Amino acid sequence: MSINYVRNSLFGSPLVFSSNILERRIKEGDPYTYHRSLSDYQPTPVHNLNRLAKFFDLESLIIKDESKRFDLKAFKGLGASYALEMLVRRDSNVKGVCSATDGNHGRALARFAQLKSLPCKIYVPQGTTEGRVSAIAAYGADVETVSGDYDYAVKQAQIRAQEQGWYQVQDTAWAGYEEIPADILVGYFTQAIELEQQINLYSRPTTLILTAGVGTWAASLAYFWRDAISSGQMELILVESKESACFYESILERSYRSASGTQVTLMAGLNCATPSPHAWDILKGLVKYTVQISDEKIVTAMKALREEGIESGETGAAGVASLYAMKEKGLIGQLIPRKNNILLFSTEGATDPKLYDLMLAQ
Ligand SMILES: Cc1ncc(COP(=O)(O)O)c(C=O)c1O
Repeated sequence: MSINYVRNSLFGSPLVFSSNILERRIKEGDPYTYHRSLSDYQPTPVHNLNRLAKFFDLESLIIKDESKRFDLKAFKGLGASYALEMLVRRDSNVKGVCSATDGNHGRALARFAQLKSLPCKIYVPQGTTEGRVSAIAAYGADVETVSGDYDYAVKQAQIRAQEQGWYQVQDTAWAGYEEIPADILVGYFTQAIELEQQINLYSRPTTLILTAGVGTWAASLAYFWRDAISSGQMELILVESKESACFYESILERSYRSASGTQVTLMAGLNCATPSPHAWDILKGLVKYTVQISDEKIVTAMKALREEGIESGETGAAGVASLYAMKEKGLIGQLIPRKNNILLFSTEGATDPKLYDLMLAQ
């Protein structure tokens, strides 16, 4: 089993946004009111997994199950829906939207664009499974597989948006493109707001285990809980695939950079080689340990979660897979303080049902 970790020497560095756009969108944002106005909005369930907690020698293990998020089976719908809503409020003349995706963000954008009768084009990286492509197309989007990786797909969406006068609704930022990704990050706050209503989060010290692709999602929750993290009430462990570990490598080298891995991984949702600068701004001062794992424990984690009644896909199970990897290497008790309450998320269900069945049949 391959797992590597780095203690973040940038922890505690002050939160300085490299531009004020994200800060402004956060201040103006109210995603929870918006999400609650949607007819099929429901908070996703939270489980306290005693059996697994005992197995990992933890005080408790709390998991929020995002397989129940709308009919999308992944948390990504919170960000895409909110950003699209903010966009059409700013510009009532939106002609169409496009984006790149590893699967879940594009599927979510396609769903909410269809509800607003907006044309939608989604670019997916080479190697995206047929199941993921057809799940996006089912919401009426035009899906194109590019001959390159996620970053290349992002570039294609950017070109399309410029040529057609459409908007790119992308969950990663770059210089000159910040407003929409900022809204996506704000949209994920709803998950944290729900959680605070579902459990007494502050009753015990907590280790928060979050996974990262471009890091927008982890940055959203880390920002939301920044006071608890800065004061030591909560510690944040960031998990990535070792094949696209851009935060691990950036933290190791103490400077922002893209990942050097092969980008061949089961964890499709984490297969993004370049951090979003918004996420880097936030996460570099809040992450305690950054961890990179191989695919090896993914099926074990998926099966363990299924036994607990939670449908968890290959990316969704990455947080629990990291616990298996830590246990095998004797790292529980070292990366996670004893008597800690673990909070993690199963970020997706069987978003590719054929692959899910295939993996669980192993
Ligand atoms: C299921 C799932 N989990 C986690 C992530 C990572 O989110 P981010 O790219 O914002 O880091 C993704 C990204 O698509 C995802 O689909």
